Amino acid sequence: MQNTNIYLPHIAKVVEIKEETQDVKSFRFEFVELKLRENFTWKAGQFLILSIFGVGEAVFTFANPQTRKEFVECSIRKVGLVTEAIHELEVGDTVGIRGPYGNWFPFEEFGSKNLLFVAGGIGIAALRSSIEYSMDTRNDYGKITILYGARSPMDICYKDKIVEWQNSDNVEVALTVDRGNDEWKHRVGLIPTILKEMNPAAENTVAIICGPPIMIKFTLKALSELGFTNDNIVTTLEMKMKCGLGKCGRCNIGNIYVCKDGPVFSYEQIEGLPDEY
Ligand code: FES
Repeated sequence: MQNTNIYLPHIAKVVEIKEETQDVKSFRFEFVELKLRENFTWKAGQFLILSIFGVGEAVFTFANPQTRKEFVECSIRKVGLVTEAIHELEVGDTVGIRGPYGNWFPFEEFGSKNLLFVAGGIGIAALRSSIEYSMDTRNDYGKITILYGARSPMDICYKDKIVEWQNSDNVEVALTVDRGNDEWKHRVGLIPTILKEMNPAAENTVAIICGPPIMIKFTLKALSELGFTNDNIVTTLEMKMKCGLGKCGRCNIGNIYVCKDGPVFSYEQIEGLPDEY
């Protein structure tokens, strides 16, 4: 449900805050207007614009899927003025939310394929809604594989969610960090290297990836070596966005606007664009 004035945010309250890591917090927001709370919906991969009154606004993806929509949830890394202000929020504080905007991961086209999620760093926040959506519509897909990498064990988000995912039927979860510690029982190494070690079958599998540009670049290379074709690789470029509305020009790459044409793209669509994503 969208406002008729595209710049007018819906008012929402912070109802829960969870500290994921030293610089990432997950926030649950609840709309003040009861009707909106019931009717507001989105699709995994879409984004919203969160306003902190008197400070500014920023683009975030929905961290929870449309199948778990009692709240709007975002996981936010502290990286600048607006996100620092968001990290100062307390339960009961008021924010503005606009959206949903953008396209979504085309689950309807994935059919009964296997799903391979590859997330680097805070990219896991953009993929969480899709991971949970696929869990909630589990019978529609084959095997689900999740490869999630972070800098260190301290930087792993969603530790409780990961346990849930690991305990789900026909789901394989692989965790890796660049640098481990004595307690770390999972893998150590860069995502593209671990991906190649895992050697997932490319046949009948869609790879859904999100992370920092350098990780995406080498993950694409690894996927190609594993036999994945460009039409079976999907990514989200949400990190490029600022206004989210086609006004600021910040998200322009070659002939596409991430906010208007995406943020979700198959690799086939973005292959050959300037190397900026
Ligand atoms: S984010 Fe401003 S034009 Fe796309």
